[in-house]
Amino acid sequence: MRGHSSPVSSDQRHCHPRLGKLVSRHLGNEHRRPIAAHTRAAFEAIRHTVEQRAAPLVFDSFCGTGMSTALLAQRHPDCLIIGIDKSAHRINKHSATAPPDYLLVRADCGDFWRLALAAGWALQWHYLFYPNPWPKQSQLQRRLHGSPEFSSLLALGGWVELRSNWQVYVEEFGSALHLAGHPAWVDSPEVGVPVSLFERKYLHSGHPLWRCRCKLNDSARLAGGGLIGGAQHVQD
Ligand SMILES: C[S@@+](CC[C@H](N)C(=O)[O-])C[C@H]1O[C@@H](n2cnc3c(N)ncnc32)[C@H](O)[C@@H]1O
Repeated sequence: MRGHSSPVSSDQRHCHPRLGKLVSRHLGNEHRRPIAAHTRAAFEAIRHTVEQRAAPLVFDSFCGTGMSTALLAQRHPDCLIIGIDKSAHRINKHSATAPPDYLLVRADCGDFWRLALAAGWALQWHYLFYPNPWPKQSQLQRRLHGSPEFSSLLALGGWVELRSNWQVYVEEFGSALHLAGHPAWVDSPEVGVPVSLFERKYLHSGHPLWRCRCKLNDSARLAGGGLIGGAQHVQD
């Protein structure tokens, strides 16, 4: 990952006019798509480890090569961090400087979230760094907040932080959270050390970066179901 990248170009300049309708439709309906066998196998492969650790859980969804996963493990030393990405190519590029104290999983995020919910897991933090923007107006349903997976993301709870170099995406995500009853706020992160490879590339290319944060519930549960006090402050 190197070189200059162009800013996101789109035929959509503001929040999508169908956002409200789509969010209400997905929130009112159960997601019925069958779960991919490879994601189920990946989930089962780590389930025991996660439930044995019984540590507060952090997901780094769409983690790419897992650079952010390793950084998050330093930021949250008391938590178990799980980086999830569907690309074996990207996951295999991960290089750890020390034996990793986090998990990297090759899986579809939406399916993995549903399995985690069915197992009774809940999150302390959920990071979503630079998901694919799907910038064409016609691609709203492929964006996180326009997809049926959005309700699973909400149900997993915890603090959510999403970053993108496309302001419309971040504002739309924040609006979808508001529509679902979760106040969220949007700002520009002050980035010292880039958290991920895409963030580094966008910074080098001079793109403005955007962030949406939201606290989905008042407490986070331990993997396996026990209650712990939720994080009260956003940590940078
Ligand atoms: C733009 S990259 C960002 C990667 C990383 N977060 C970063 O900031 O460097 C988006 C990533 O999302 C992954 N991805 C896209 N759809 C996915 C899905 N449904 N489940 C899991 N990963 C997915 C891609 O493989 C890719 O690594």
